[in-house]
Amino acid sequence: MRDNLTGPDMSARLLAWYDRSARAMPWRIGPQDRAAGERADPYRVWLSEVMLQQTTVAAVRAYFERFTARWPTVADLAAAPDADVMAEWAGLGYYARARNLLKCARAVTALPGGFPDTEDGLRALPGIGPYTAAAVAAIAFDRPAVVVDGNVERVVSRLFAVETPLPKAKPALTALAATLTPQARPGDHAQAMMDLGATICTPRKPACGICPLMGACAAQAKGIAADLPRKLAKTEKPTRHGIAYLARRSDGAWLLERRPDRGLLGGMLGWPGSDWTATPTPTEAPPLSADWQRPNTPVRHTFTHFHLILTLRVATVGMEAQPATGTFVADLDPGDLPTVMRKCHDSALAHF
Ligand code: ADE
Repeated sequence: MRDNLTGPDMSARLLAWYDRSARAMPWRIGPQDRAAGERADPYRVWLSEVMLQQTTVAAVRAYFERFTARWPTVADLAAAPDADVMAEWAGLGYYARARNLLKCARAVTALPGGFPDTEDGLRALPGIGPYTAAAVAAIAFDRPAVVVDGNVERVVSRLFAVETPLPKAKPALTALAATLTPQARPGDHAQAMMDLGATICTPRKPACGICPLMGACAAQAKGIAADLPRKLAKTEKPTRHGIAYLARRSDGAWLLERRPDRGLLGGMLGWPGSDWTATPTPTEAPPLSADWQRPNTPVRHTFTHFHLILTLRVATVGMEAQPATGTFVADLDPGDLPTVMRKCHDSALAHF
């Protein structure tokens, strides 16, 4: 028999669980500090939320620590050169987030009061979408905003046994999430939903036996928890092909170019090369004439929407080299490159 819990009952159980089991994260404040009236720093909450979109907590932690050590306030970040921020972001992916992060930091710094403390005010900032506005309003300012990420969608679809597939179910799931959102401690509620989704109400094999909402979950009662949320069948990712030219000058400098701000890996450093096309690229235009080696093993990388196979061309060139595109970069830190470009670097090293 299912317990007949109201939205506020469920949230109260969830908050009691959160007080015992919240995951420690560098952007959260602990329960004791919170009880003493301390609030989470909006800058840290905003930065963490932007980093956590499409990226796991485990991957974000180290980036978050490095960013906040280097730029402790939003004004520090706003004053940073674009290239430094893009380099620090390298490896996190979805590079438009880093460009928007800077735009937003600069807009916030120009506001007299810093971060707006409402969902609407936050939503008006560049690069802040509905999810981030709701998350920051709830977590940093305790506004009863309805925060719905992938974890929350999963928890809610199970609690109410919503069988409509995603993405069609999104509006219904948001409306149901709203029925759970409390007036008191909405930020903790939002994070409790996320933690529940990440640790107990997991995509496969949910740990229903230890769930604080056991008995209230319609999907568990029906025996279909692990099957929800339903999703429309995904289409196969296509494969694209390209060529990357890795030229190293005799003094060790690498030939790199900054990619245009718009488009994939926008604003990041990368190797000169061909477009990435559906069929293997027949024409090649090297950035300079050299004795290009042709390693047999291509570099493979998967983006959200396609697989990429990059054929490498590798050359050592003299100090007099005059490339048609790009500039030679001394003291390259491969960690400053987006992952696919770093893979090319690592793979090419064997050929020098
Ligand atoms: N995912 C996105 N934001 C989060 C947060 N504040 N806590 C846990 N997981 C999250």
